[in-house]
Amino acid sequence: MALRLRKLSYALGAEVCDIDLTQPLSEDCVGDIRRAFLEHNGLLLFRNQRIGPAQHIAFSRRFGELDRHESVPRDRHPEHAEILVVTNEPDADGEPSNSRYTGQLWHSDLGFTLRPALGSLLRAVAVPPVGGDTLFANMYAAYDALSAGMQSLISGLCGIHTQQRRHVSADWQAESSRLNPPVAHPLVRIHPETGRKALYVGEPVKRIEGLSDAESAPILEVLMAAAIRPQGGYRHQWQVNDLVFWDNRCTNHQALGDYDSAERRRMERTTLVGEPSGHLASGA
Ligand code: SIN
Repeated sequence: MALRLRKLSYALGAEVCDIDLTQPLSEDCVGDIRRAFLEHNGLLLFRNQRIGPAQHIAFSRRFGELDRHESVPRDRHPEHAEILVVTNEPDADGEPSNSRYTGQLWHSDLGFTLRPALGSLLRAVAVPPVGGDTLFANMYAAYDALSAGMQSLISGLCGIHTQQRRHVSADWQAESSRLNPPVAHPLVRIHPETGRKALYVGEPVKRIEGLSDAESAPILEVLMAAAIRPQGGYRHQWQVNDLVFWDNRCTNHQALGDYDSAERRRMERTTLVGEPSGHLASGA
């Protein structure tokens, strides 16, 4: 049976309606989901899915190999290394969670590694009554919005990516810097399945390899302005049991943090391993 889809915004995204991820899915159905994922510019929403970590992992595996989050070991689910937890719930020792600000800047997942993520599947376990939204941006559209001159200027250039997160403990930061030295990725990546060019830049990119900070800044400013145009985006308002599946090769996202910190927000994410990309940054 064909999937019933409902578009979420003009720029990207569709909801897959009438699907129950607690039930076994045929290969044909998974193939239809994969096609819809590519056709809708890399974002699908599955609403009302009463699944737990094991089913979340099993469904995600239908789309590829899963990352075990070695680059962010402290954010892993205690029983499932394939699940990354993003939450403002305090740690068992009462300390604030290091992941409470995860994702609160425009980025593509695992861009600070040499295996940037193919895709991510984020499940809402607890959401505040209002806010806690996530913004998504279509990075094909961001590339297309640049002038031919700018497209030609940045072809062949690499942005330097680092792991960045606000208000983390000093030992978390030290461990993260040790595990994740700065890496350089092309500013324009060709999507391996659609063959389309997508801009690959986010707020963690502060410099272009081979250029000074001062030379990089105006170029990065132009690229980020193209990346965050409202007409290139979709804003997701979470409901408990939503699962959003996005393509990190052609989208960026940002958790807004627009909610009362006294309210609970807990998200669980699986991450699909992407193709090797980039190299350790020179002169970083
Ligand atoms: C993430 O960047 O993976 C988390 C996004 C969110 O919590 O909304």
